[in-house]
Amino acid sequence: MPADRGQGPTISEVAAEAGVGRATAARTLGGYGYVSPELRARVLAAAEKLGYRANALARSMSTGVSHTLGVIVADIGNPFFAGLLRGISDSARARGFDVIVLSTYENLQEEIAATNVLIDKRVDGVVVASAALDRDQVAHIRAAMDRGIPVVLVDRAVAALDLDAVVIDNREAAREAVEVLIAAGHRRIGFVWGPPVAQPPSTRRELLAAASRNLWTDGERLRGYLDALDDAHIPFDPELVMVGPKTEARVVGEVGRMLALPDRVTAVFCTETDGMTGSLRALRKAGLSYPEDVALIGFDDSAWAAVMDPPLTMIAQPVHQLGAKAAEVLLDILGGAEPARTMHTLRSQLIQRASVAPPASR
Ligand code: RIB
Repeated sequence: MPADRGQGPTISEVAAEAGVGRATAARTLGGYGYVSPELRARVLAAAEKLGYRANALARSMSTGVSHTLGVIVADIGNPFFAGLLRGISDSARARGFDVIVLSTYENLQEEIAATNVLIDKRVDGVVVASAALDRDQVAHIRAAMDRGIPVVLVDRAVAALDLDAVVIDNREAAREAVEVLIAAGHRRIGFVWGPPVAQPPSTRRELLAAASRNLWTDGERLRGYLDALDDAHIPFDPELVMVGPKTEARVVGEVGRMLALPDRVTAVFCTETDGMTGSLRALRKAGLSYPEDVALIGFDDSAWAAVMDPPLTMIAQPVHQLGAKAAEVLLDILGGAEPARTMHTLRSQLIQRASVAPPASR
């Protein structure tokens, strides 16, 4: 970074150009105190001529307000978070706020570092899709709040934090999707992407215990899957639930394993985009097709899911609305509203296309 990186014209240079005292120029450019219309016009004309820009960070230090929101998400390259950020940005801009975005890849240390950056940048508030899983992982969020920076959660709740959280109806959405598969006649339904665990749980209790130690969205979607099986009196089979590190390559292996079972899966429910793409690869690798051989439903609808042939049945999250609502909740708090400390739950939508058919008679 060049040492003499130009800071642009100073208040003193604007004052000299306008032929007024520095204090008069400072009051005019800082928007405080009284300045006569004639002198104000001279200062603003001089600032325009010199290309003066107020030092926003210096102003935030003096006023304690930066009109900036900080946003922390898992992956700005993921279409889900990209849509979320657009909603946040649109709401913030409509109310005169800028946005600083940081990406953490679901890494807690990255999230802690990002939170400290936002504190240093003196943001007025933070929206975070947090990777924190329990009470000994939320000190960074409490530190921001202790500095008077309100925090709103988005996409996933964190049980250890009594904060406003803007989320969707994950459990209901998952249950509805699996019910569609069951209504089509499927009983052997694979679940792609349960909690990352050291070793595959052999019982439902172990699985739910593992889920409660992981991201809230994962656990809710798993519970919705189990709800649908229970409602249809379909026994839970741990072999049909993929757990462990979330990579597409692991999905290919795990779904391939489910397809190779003597009593193989005839349907697969995927809880995120990479789960669906991995499942499609596994089907191709096994020489199988959808929906004839295996029915598919996934989370996080997208343009590519609609143009697949046949087009995929997907759960669509209101991503822009999620982001806009999270920003509005935070901005209301910044405007003086008392935090509701509640879950603001938005409805997702199951987009039924052509990737579900009855199981082939084998
Ligand atoms: O990676 C994006 C997915 O994880 C979305 O389903 C979103 O809900 C997040 O939890």
